[in-house]
Amino acid sequence: MSSAILLVGGMGTRLQPLTFNTPKPMLSVAGVPFTEHQIIKAREAGFTEIVLATSFKAELFEPYFGDGERFGISIRYAVESVPLGTGGAIRNAASMLTGSGPVAIFNGDVLSAHDLAAQLSFHVKNQADVTLYLTEVPDARAFGAVEFGDDFRVTAFNEKMENPPTNMINAGCYIFSREVIDSIPAQQVISVERETFPGLLNDGARVFAFIDRNYWLDIGNPSALMKATRDLLSGAMYSAATPVLSDGSFIAAGASIAATAKITSSVIGSGAQIGSGAVIEGCLIGAGARVGQEVVLTDCFVADSAQVESGVIAGGSFLGFPLK
Ligand code: GTP
Repeated sequence: MSSAILLVGGMGTRLQPLTFNTPKPMLSVAGVPFTEHQIIKAREAGFTEIVLATSFKAELFEPYFGDGERFGISIRYAVESVPLGTGGAIRNAASMLTGSGPVAIFNGDVLSAHDLAAQLSFHVKNQADVTLYLTEVPDARAFGAVEFGDDFRVTAFNEKMENPPTNMINAGCYIFSREVIDSIPAQQVISVERETFPGLLNDGARVFAFIDRNYWLDIGNPSALMKATRDLLSGAMYSAATPVLSDGSFIAAGASIAATAKITSSVIGSGAQIGSGAVIEGCLIGAGARVGQEVVLTDCFVADSAQVESGVIAGGSFLGFPLK
C-alpha cells in the first residue's frame, strides 16, 4: 500500500478570474482537470490510495473523481471548513489514509516529469524523515531555495527571498514519514514551508534532497497554465491522463467545428461551437462556448458557455469570465 495526499485547498488568487468559480486544481489542462494528471501520475508510480485535501470550493472535486475507481486508485476527501494551511492540511488528511508507511504529498499546482517512484525509494533507503523533490530554476526568488550537503542532507530552507543562496528550489512534492506527519499539531493553521521544514531542520531531523531536473512547471499563473496545455498537446511533456488528440488539439465530444475553422494547439470543450473562418491558436475554449465567424483568438481563455461575437480578434485575453 503506497499512500499520497494531494493539497488542493488553496484559493488560486494568481489565477483569477479563472478561479472565481473553479478551484485551480479543477481547471482544465489539456482537456482534463489538472488534478487528473497528478492522480494518474501517482497511480503510474504505484500509489494505491490518495486523499484530496480540499477547502476552497471543496464540493467540486468529488462529483468528478468519485471513489477513484474510474482512475484505478482509491480516492478519499478530507475537507477543511477553514483552510488549515499546507501543514495543517497534511495532518488533517493523513487521518483518512489506511496505509501507515511513508506518504507522498503533492502541491496541487505542479506539473512534473520527476521520477516519483525513485523519490520514494531514495526516502526509504536514507531512512529519511522527509524527502524534498528539488529542481533547478534560473531565478529562485519566487520559490523556496533549498541548501544541502554532499550527502544530500538538507541544511537550510529559505522561503521566497530577494537573494537566494542557490537556484535549487522546493519543487512541491515531498515524502513524509508517518511519524513526522503525526508530530504536526492537529487542527491548527500551519505552513509546511514556513514552519514545519525549518522546525525539522532545527531539530536535526533527517531531511533529504531528491534532485530531478526533468520537466517541471508551476501552473499557478495564467501564462504557465496555458504553457502546461501547450506542452502536453505538443508532446514536450507527457502525461498518461492527456486525452487522445487530433492534429495537436483536443476536441471534446459534442463540440462542433465549422469546416473552414482552423484550430491549432487548443482545447475545445464539450458542446462548444466554432464558427466558419475562425482561427483559434493556443486557446482553451470552455464547454458550451459559442465562437462566432471569422473570430481570431491567440492564447485566450474562453469561459464555459461564453459567447464570442463574430469578427472579434483577441490575444492573451480572458473572455466571458465573471469580474469577481
Ligand atoms: P495562490 O493564491 O495563487 O498563491 O494559489 P494557492 O491558493 O493555490 O496557494 P499556493 O500556490 O501557495 O499553494 C500551494 C498548494 O497548496 C496548492 O496546491 C494549494 O491548493 C494548496 N493549499 C494552499 N493552502 C492550503 C490550505 O489551507 N489547505 C489545503 N488543503 N490546501 C492548501
